[in-house]
Amino acid sequence: MTEVITIAAGKGGVGKTATTINLAAAMALDGYRVLVVDTDTQANSTMFLTGRRLADNAFKGKGLYELARSRHLLPATEFIRPTQMENVDIIPSNMATPYLEEQIKLISADDGSEPAQFLFNVLSEIFETRDYDYVLIDTPPAQNSLTVQTALVAASRVIIPLKLEEQGIESLLVTDALRRALEEKYEIEIDLLGILPTIVEKTALTDYYLNLAFVSRDEEENPEASRLAAPYGDKLFKTAIRKGNIVNESTIERKPCVLINPRKNPSKDYLDLWKEIKSRLAERR
Ligand SMILES: Nc1ncnc2c1ncn2[C@@H]1O[C@H](COP(=O)(O)OP(=O)(O)O)[C@@H](O)[C@H]1O
Ligand SMILES: [Mg+2]
Repeated sequence: MTEVITIAAGKGGVGKTATTINLAAAMALDGYRVLVVDTDTQANSTMFLTGRRLADNAFKGKGLYELARSRHLLPATEFIRPTQMENVDIIPSNMATPYLEEQIKLISADDGSEPAQFLFNVLSEIFETRDYDYVLIDTPPAQNSLTVQTALVAASRVIIPLKLEEQGIESLLVTDALRRALEEKYEIEIDLLGILPTIVEKTALTDYYLNLAFVSRDEEENPEASRLAAPYGDKLFKTAIRKGNIVNESTIERKPCVLINPRKNPSKDYLDLWKEIKSRLAERR
């Protein structure tokens, strides 16, 4: 069965896209077939995986929006494009993605489908004819939008990147509350695969803070224990993604950093993350 993993966080700039493209690369290097779905209007995953630029009108007329618009005319597979990596395909985002939600609502008015199930339906159709081991869905920074909802409802698992900054934990809680609300509403299971500390500056201090926040059950030591330790203690990935210039270089080169230099800290961390994810998936299947 294809695992559909959505990378979501209410905040922007927390490493959702970096995580999507580097995990896609790590999976592909490991021999798996991956489909990335870029639902963000900024189209960063699309640019970094294909090397093309939004400004060059890349994928004009051939993105997720157009897939939605031709829902009952063309097969969804028509909108799958190759990337710079042999084992990674993408349903790209383009200049029209801002109109996606409107289009999804039109489809649902037309055929009675549930708007939040749009991506789930699209992927089900794709899986009838294509074999992917993993689908990774990159999302826009929004606490609750139809795009984020449809990306979560399509997912079997969710990764929530957490940058330790003001509102970081609030944003985690909001995204996770949305995950649970959608599980209930649609009577589905959307497993929280893990919380991923990203853009981490000093690992020792971060470890200390994260342990305190997410693990310590001592109410005095950890006033947030009831909010964090119990529900999330075992959800925190052991791997944290350290901060490193290679990630910014990778945005300039438009390539995942694990492909540019696998020996830099963030690259090593993303490769380790993939190992950790594989073992988590093996435990939960
Ligand atoms: N591990 C990292 N080290 C340094 N910079 C990073 C790291 N991860 C992400 N960044 C930078 O932070 C910014 C936001 O990352 P991005 O993945 O685009 O976040 P999001 O998709 O959540 O908005 C980008 O400029 C990116 O290059
Ligand atoms: Mg992004």
